[in-house]
Amino acid sequence: MAIFSDDDTNENLISKPKLQKNEDLETSQTDYDKSFENNIRPKKFDEYIGQSALKDTLKISIEAAKKRAQPLDHLLFYGPPGLGKTTLAGVIANELETKIKITSAPALERPRDIIGILMSLKDGEILFIDEIHRLNKVAEEILYPAMEDFYLDMTTGKAQTVKTLRVPIPKFTLIGATTKAGALSGPLRDRFGIIHRLQFYTKQELSAVVKRTASILEIKITDEGALSIAGRSRGTPRIANRLVKRVADYALVRADGIIDEKVANMALDTLHIDKFGLDNTDRAMMTMIIEKYDGGPVGLETIAAALGEDSKTIEDVYEPFLLQEGFIQRTPRGRKVSPEGYRHLGYKIPNIQQSLF
Ligand code: ADE
Repeated sequence: MAIFSDDDTNENLISKPKLQKNEDLETSQTDYDKSFENNIRPKKFDEYIGQSALKDTLKISIEAAKKRAQPLDHLLFYGPPGLGKTTLAGVIANELETKIKITSAPALERPRDIIGILMSLKDGEILFIDEIHRLNKVAEEILYPAMEDFYLDMTTGKAQTVKTLRVPIPKFTLIGATTKAGALSGPLRDRFGIIHRLQFYTKQELSAVVKRTASILEIKITDEGALSIAGRSRGTPRIANRLVKRVADYALVRADGIIDEKVANMALDTLHIDKFGLDNTDRAMMTMIIEKYDGGPVGLETIAAALGEDSKTIEDVYEPFLLQEGFIQRTPRGRKVSPEGYRHLGYKIPNIQQSLF
């Protein structure tokens, strides 16, 4: 039974088998970005800011799993990129004092990839599969009995002599992460005990993330400076953390190294990130819909082609925040810019739009 509720380690506990190219859409992550992210990742629940409803649920499940000496139920985390799905999986592993193996669905192309990784686990360990909605049918079918009863169906022999063997595997916990819960097959979704949507962070939560990161990096920052960065981070800690680095560089070169409100605002202005956290691509997308399509509706592929962007990037990275802030709307016939979107970009709201909203 799936429980629905609403709402990303200790380095030596994490082993990363066959880590394939991270196709995380948020922005292309360089190795440097990844090692920076790893250094500042919270390791325990008390360092992990935000997602409080989810943390409460998880703390109970973890304690119960420990008391029963049973593996934790399989977990599915979904939501826009950068909200801390991988980080949270690492925290869970640390809290359970177990190891986590991190991989991504596109790396599990051949049956032997998934079989190999399942057989390499030990009792109680965690397997984290990112972009789980991209698992192929064969890999999914291997996972079903593995998740449900901890065995693999293996076949030996040929034609008439073919035999199916049930091979037991360790009692592991699968943590799946996806930006598209709707793209997961029903049978796979049903095998997760806890399914949880990660929420965008509030400005206060992001300000706490910014201050924590600044303190780890030994960067001086005022409360107002942290709030300014937080307010322009699109509700996303990964973005907040990257902005801390950019603003710190600016503070070092153009000011006295201290991030206060003025320095943060000047630095973010030079990065063309506005008061709502919108960047050049967000504004270009909304401007294009307004100027070329009278505010929409316009299909996603048309928008992507006009901007020279990948439609998946628009859908998974740009759109969720613009929708959440009410700057655009999704209709069956495509995307529309809302009156807030018109206002934010300094356009006069057309009468037809006003009457539609
Ligand atoms: N860095 C990224 N996500 C974080 C979170 N939720 N709490 C603290 N630091 C983070």
